[in-house]
Amino acid sequence: MSFTRRRFAVVTAGALALAAPLAVKAADAATTPTAVQVGPAAATSFTPAQVLAGVQANMTTANKVNSKPHINTMTRAQNVNVYQVASGVYAYTSSMAIDTDGSDPDPDPDHQGQTTWQDSNGKALGAHHVPFYVLGDDCWDRKSPCPHFFFKEHNIKGRQFALMFYKGKCIGSIFGDTQTANDQTTSDNDSRELGEASVKAAQLLGIPSSGTTGGVDNGVTVVMFSGPSWVVNGTNANLNANTQALVQKALDDLGASMGGTPPPRPGSTFEAETGTLSAGGTFDSNHPGFTGTGFANTTNAVGAFVEIPVTAATAGTKTLSFRYSDGTTAARPATISVNGTSRGTLNFPTTANWDTWATASISVPLTAGTNTIRVTGTTAGGTGNIDSVTIS
Ligand code: GCU
Ligand code: CA
Repeated sequence: MSFTRRRFAVVTAGALALAAPLAVKAADAATTPTAVQVGPAAATSFTPAQVLAGVQANMTTANKVNSKPHINTMTRAQNVNVYQVASGVYAYTSSMAIDTDGSDPDPDPDHQGQTTWQDSNGKALGAHHVPFYVLGDDCWDRKSPCPHFFFKEHNIKGRQFALMFYKGKCIGSIFGDTQTANDQTTSDNDSRELGEASVKAAQLLGIPSSGTTGGVDNGVTVVMFSGPSWVVNGTNANLNANTQALVQKALDDLGASMGGTPPPRPGSTFEAETGTLSAGGTFDSNHPGFTGTGFANTTNAVGAFVEIPVTAATAGTKTLSFRYSDGTTAARPATISVNGTSRGTLNFPTTANWDTWATASISVPLTAGTNTIRVTGTTAGGTGNIDSVTIS
């Protein structure tokens, strides 16, 4: 159980990231909540800012789950509500008070050795290792359905996954501890409080994480994903990694279920015509359907190439997707090199004609910043016509 030391302070407006609004379909608060399904092959395209904008657009009166307000754990203001922002997905914005409880030691005088939920080995969660959030332990009004958001009524169990957003940051978190039951007499906390999370969650979000002086009064948005497929397993040693590994999937599933179409990330597509060609090649525009101002047409020869400069925000293994056409009857395989190092041969199968564009993809390591991608034909045809390359 969590007995949080708290500061009394003025409620400040949450400083949430602004984003290009996601097209949002109203969530049906009346339907039985079911979890967002863990679908196969979700496109890893939704950004935290897009999803947060969609969540905020769905935090409407029509989607409110609680009929009585919750209490901001830090400020004590009775102004926190929980909204169903998509089927089986619940969100609130409140404070972050710091929970130091569990198996990790902490100098906080309120520190307790137990958390309500345990890791997969049955050990109390460690507040310094596991990013976890805190919900009310019971229904304060002792009514069913509860006038407040009560996790047991919403298919939420221990270690239930949530996204947490704060000032442009986004992390994964699990349901780890509960706020004092209403029969608890040794504390002035009660189960209507919302707005507390572990030391680790605070650290990951850049919030002061001391159990006695840390926390933030407002602006933390917690988005809980209900249902058994979103319960995270693991030990205190790997629960954080297991939880963060679900973040992009959660962003993509939620982004899609709120009705958004993931736009390509700005700056991730690079036009071939910004590059250079081996001797005899031209940048043409005589076949429709290209993006930008044209496409690369190499000469028909083994070794003919187009070189395209691209920029990667971070270093790592990325997928290069080439948009190309090959209106002949034979594939135009090409070697893909990055900064002068060959990374393999990509097939580039035929397309119906030269006006039809397809994509061919390969995984390659990129460095942060500018990289030079060279596509070199390995057959007498040279390369297909190359329109662009997209990094994802
Ligand atoms: C045609 C086509 C060109 C293409 C070329 C080729 O001439 O119009 O765009 O590059 O075939 O075979 O490479
Ligand atoms: Ca050509």
